[in-house]
Amino acid sequence: MRKYSENNTEKKYKIIAVDDESGIIDSLSVFLKHSNYDFTGVTDPLEAIEKVRNEHFDLMILDFIMTPIHGDKVVEEIRKFNKELYILLLTGHKDLAPPLETIKRLDIQGYCEKSDKFDQLLLLIESGIKSISQVNIIKQINEELKDTYEKLENAYMESIETLRRTVDAKDSYTRGHSDRVSEYACLLGSELHLSPEDMRTLKIGGLFHDIGKIGVPDSILLKPGKLTDDEYSEIKNHPSIGAHILSTATIFKDLLPIVKHHHERYDGKGYPSQLAGEDIPYLARITAIADTFDAMTSKRPYRNALELDFVINEFERCSGTQFDPKLAPVWIDIMKNHFDKIKAIMDKFPSNS
Ligand SMILES: [Fe+2]
Ligand SMILES: [Fe+2]
Repeated sequence: MRKYSENNTEKKYKIIAVDDESGIIDSLSVFLKHSNYDFTGVTDPLEAIEKVRNEHFDLMILDFIMTPIHGDKVVEEIRKFNKELYILLLTGHKDLAPPLETIKRLDIQGYCEKSDKFDQLLLLIESGIKSISQVNIIKQINEELKDTYEKLENAYMESIETLRRTVDAKDSYTRGHSDRVSEYACLLGSELHLSPEDMRTLKIGGLFHDIGKIGVPDSILLKPGKLTDDEYSEIKNHPSIGAHILSTATIFKDLLPIVKHHHERYDGKGYPSQLAGEDIPYLARITAIADTFDAMTSKRPYRNALELDFVINEFERCSGTQFDPKLAPVWIDIMKNHFDKIKAIMDKFPSNS
C-alpha cells in the first residue's frame, strides 16, 4: 500500500491573490514567494475569475471591496464552476466585512483584516494548505479504491463470462438462452421496482442459472428426441450441481438461490427442494418465469416455438400452481402490452436453432 504523506516537499502550492491595490499584491508576492509558494497576483477581479477558470490554483486570497465587482461577487462566479478552491477573504475594515451568512453560503474558508503584518494571514494560509493537502490525500485514496473496485468488478464479470461460455459451448442448442433469461428476468424485475443490488443479482443469476448443465452428460443434453425418465432425472440435477460449483467462491453467494431454485414451482411440485410459495427465494421465482417463458418461445428438436397467445394462456392457467400468482400477472401484462420489449431481447440474442 502506498504511503500517503502530507509533507510533499516537491509540490509547490499555487496561490492566487486578487486585490485592486497593487501595493498589497506586491507585498504579498514578496512575502509568499519567500515562503516558497507559487504566487500569482492579479489586480482585476474579472481577470482573476478567468485565471481560476483556466488554471489550477490551490488557494485564493481576495480583497472584499474592489472595483468593478466586490470579492463576494468574484467568489459567487467562481463557485459556479469550482467548488474546491480554498478561499480566504481580506477585509479592509471590520465593519465592511460581508455578513457571516454570505461567507458560509459561498464556502469561504476564512477571512482576516488587512494589515501591514502578514502574520495572521500566513497562519490562515498554512492551515488552509494543511487542509488542502488532507483533501488531496483523501481524493487519492478514493481514486485508488475506485480503481481497485473497478478491477475487481471487471475480474468478476470476466470470470462470469468465462464460466458462461463453458456452459454455452457444452450445450450449443441452448446458446443465447441464459442471455435471454437474464434479460427477461431484469425486464420483470424492473417492473417490480427491485433495488439496484437485486437487479444486478438477477442479471448475473440469469446468465448463470444453468451453469450446472456442465455436470450433465452430453448424451443427455444433446439428445434430439424426448428424454427417458432416468435421463430427465439426470437433467434435474443441474440446479444442485450449479449451486455446488458456485458455492466454492464467496463472490457468487448471492447467485446461489437463483441457481439452485429456478426450477421450484409455487405449488411445491418443482425441484430440487420442493419448496413452495414464498419459501422459494424471490429472485428464483422471477427467474423461473423468465426461464419458462424462454423455453416455451424457443424451438425444440421435437416442436416449434410456441405461439404467444398459447404462452399467455399457459401463464394464466399456471399462475398459482407453477408460478407465483403475484408475479405471473405482471409478466402476462408485459407479454400482452409491452411485447416490443420482449421482442428486442429476442432480436438481440437470437436462438441458434
Ligand atoms: Fe435450468
Ligand atoms: Fe434455463
